[in-house]
Amino acid sequence: MKKQTINFELNGELVEVHTEPSGSLLHLLRGQLGLLGTKEGCGEGECGACTVLLDSQPVNACLIPAAKIEGKQVQTIESLSNGDTIHPLQESFVEKGAVQCGFCTPGMVMSAYALLKVNQDPTPVEVKEAISGNLCRCSGYKQIEEAVLDAAEKIDQGSRED
Ligand code: FES
Ligand code: FES
Repeated sequence: MKKQTINFELNGELVEVHTEPSGSLLHLLRGQLGLLGTKEGCGEGECGACTVLLDSQPVNACLIPAAKIEGKQVQTIESLSNGDTIHPLQESFVEKGAVQCGFCTPGMVMSAYALLKVNQDPTPVEVKEAISGNLCRCSGYKQIEEAVLDAAEKIDQGSRED
């Protein structure tokens, strides 16, 4: 198929790519742009391993055709850390033992990040709902939910100290 030039914002930077418009955002990120943090699980919208934010909304990158991101903002797991400095969510995932094999972790973190962007004080039910599209084959849901609640507290404390 004919390639198309697509302009979008990726983790705060404007980028231009020449790619197949019907190819998935997931393959564009991993294959063409070398951002391997976003994982490919099922490839059909079932597992959430490929979750990224599209205009601040969590989406399954495997289901988004590249043509749909023209002019939009895409945010991937790579944007949450800066060298050795990691996001409070990532710290909490480590501290609460929420990472087992780690395959679901980037998608889980991005779904939780989307939640905490709009709700800094989520209830356990809200956390469950936010990650309901993300599957963990290691069954670490309890620790994952605890980690998200812990991160929310950390972020809240941080904002009160600022
Ligand atoms: S790889 Fe996209 S939802 Fe599973
Ligand atoms: S930690 Fe292994 S799939 Fe979730």
